[in-house]
Amino acid sequence: MKRVAVMTSGGDSPGMNAAIRAVVRTGLEYDIEVFGVRQGYAGLLNGDFHKLTSFEVSGILQRGGTILQTARNLEFKTPAGQAKGLRRLNEHGIEGVIVIGGDGSLRGALALHKLGIPVIGVPASIDNDLDGTNTSIGVDTALNTIVESLDRVRDTASSHTRAFIIEVMGRNCGYLALISSILGGAEIVSVPEREVSMEGIHDALVDAYMRGKSHAVAVIAEGVSYKTTELVDYLSQRGDVGFEVRLTILGHIQRGGSPSAFDRLLATRMGVKALESLREGQSGMMVALNDRDMATVPIEQALARIRPINPNYFDLARILSR
Ligand code: ADP
Ligand code: F6P
Repeated sequence: MKRVAVMTSGGDSPGMNAAIRAVVRTGLEYDIEVFGVRQGYAGLLNGDFHKLTSFEVSGILQRGGTILQTARNLEFKTPAGQAKGLRRLNEHGIEGVIVIGGDGSLRGALALHKLGIPVIGVPASIDNDLDGTNTSIGVDTALNTIVESLDRVRDTASSHTRAFIIEVMGRNCGYLALISSILGGAEIVSVPEREVSMEGIHDALVDAYMRGKSHAVAVIAEGVSYKTTELVDYLSQRGDVGFEVRLTILGHIQRGGSPSAFDRLLATRMGVKALESLREGQSGMMVALNDRDMATVPIEQALARIRPINPNYFDLARILSR
């Protein structure tokens, strides 16, 4: 194998650059040219490829976002779009592809693999929803950002005797919300996997007030069935929470920032493993952290279900919020 392409796709996550750098530097080790595809599948369809040099990936290890940029693209979801993508790869003499991204991006990677070109996926999404790996690139950094935000909110909440509703990202997966609620000392958490009703949130906040707490924090995952704005309206209509209630939606702040040491190491190891796996002739596989080791698992397995949350964390959250 002499020529591979690498792209980042879907929602960006901190550590994507470290993974790109690792792919390019591993290419140098094995005398394989690495071409960067700009803006994910949109760039693939437009033939937006350029050769990545070692110089071009210098100084990016610590940068959030992705130097290749990312995009969402509807055309690539169609069989005609996928065939066009394969044609573009052939035009550039590309013999293998590395797709760095979340579940949607890996569905695209699987489609390319099924068309016959070797493809390896690299799990990168703050949501931690990909199965088959202990974790994905960006999760640790996002968690650190959320926990720091919760600490800040608690400072102001206790100064004013207020309750805060904090909305945390995670499209279908409550991992970030649940773990940050434990690490940020929240009173209650509601996630798609174990949703707490608006009434349940109300009762937890009232309970904290009655116990004389100076503040209360409810962490709500964006994927629950009610909107956090509805929740705040509901609480103010009840009128008996005790605390004044405020809402903070953390939003895309959670996706940015310099990757943590953990994410830099994970992304570096995954980038190296991805190129080595392509070189060994693997395809349709996703690199994964399995216990302490790098492994590969079928992309189909990684996508078969949303990565389940360890149920013990729900017990921890309950016990520690007393
Ligand atoms: P993420 O990778 O972060 O989950 P998306 O779900 O938006 O982000 O997916 C990123 C891109 O991957 C989409 O815009 C589309 O181009 C491609 N994609 C998503 N689902 C599929 C699919 N079922 N088949 C082919 N390509 C897909
Ligand atoms: O999948 C990562 C993620 O950050 C989700 O947590 C969130 O729902 C979504 O992307 C937001 O995507 P967008 O970039 O379209 O705002």
